[in-house]
Amino acid sequence: MKTPAKFWDRVAKGYARKPVDDPQAYQKKLDQTQARFRPDMSVLEMGCGTGSTALLHAPHVGEYLATDISPAMIAIAEEKAAQENHANLRFQVSTAETAGHASKASFDAVLALNLLHLLDDPVGEITRIYGLIKPGGMFVSSTGCLADMKGLLVKVLPLMTFVGLAPRVQVMSSQQYVADIKAAGFDIEESWVQRDGRTVFVIARKPELAQDEPQS
Ligand SMILES: C[S@@+](CC[C@H](N)C(=O)[O-])C[C@H]1O[C@@H](n2cnc3c(N)ncnc32)[C@H](O)[C@@H]1O
Repeated sequence: MKTPAKFWDRVAKGYARKPVDDPQAYQKKLDQTQARFRPDMSVLEMGCGTGSTALLHAPHVGEYLATDISPAMIAIAEEKAAQENHANLRFQVSTAETAGHASKASFDAVLALNLLHLLDDPVGEITRIYGLIKPGGMFVSSTGCLADMKGLLVKVLPLMTFVGLAPRVQVMSSQQYVADIKAAGFDIEESWVQRDGRTVFVIARKPELAQDEPQS
C-alpha cells in the first residue's frame, strides 16, 4: 500500500457512486447533529470524502470547512457543490492531522465521520481535535471499531491492506474508543452502535469551563 491519499484517490469515483450503507442510521446521525447546530456556528469536517454530508449540514451553520487528504475526493465534492449554492461551504485538501491547524480552539464543532480508525494515531488526533474546539463546542464522530467485530473480515483485513484492496485500519474497541474521548476531556452526549455492530457514533461536548489543555 502507498500513501492513504493514493488509495483514496483511486477509489474516489466508486465511493461517490456507492449508496449509504445504512440510510436509517445515516439520517439519525444527521438529525442528532443538526439538532445541535446554530446558524452562527463555525464547523470543521475532516475526512469529508465526496462532500455529501457537508452539503447537507452547511445550510444549518454559519461557516463550514470540509477537508480531506484525497484531491480526487475533494474534486468530486467541489463538482457537487458547484451545482448547489452554498456561499458558506469551502472544501480543502488537508490531512486530518493538519486540518484547521491555523485555528487553535476556534471551531464550534469538529466532525470526523468514518475517519479516525484510518489514522495512525486516533488517540492523539482526539486530543488535537479537543484543542481545535471552543469551550462548549462539540465533536461528532462515526468510527469503525473493528475489535468489536466477529467473523472473517478482521482476519483478512491485513492481507487486503497489503494488496491494496483496503486502507490501513486501526483495530479499536468501541468501549476503549469512547473512553479515549472522555479521557481527552469531553463529556459524552450521544453514543450508539449501528446495526453492523462496529460503527460507533458519538457526539461529545467540550465543557464550557474547559482549560486550554486536555485533561488526562
Ligand atoms: C471511509 S471514507 C469517509 C468519507 C466521509 N466522511 C463519509 O462518511 O462518507 C474516509 C475518508 O477519509 C479520508 N482520509 C483517509 N485518511 C485521511 C487522513 N489522514 N486525513 C484526512 N482524510 C483522510 C479519505 O480520503 C476518505 O475520503
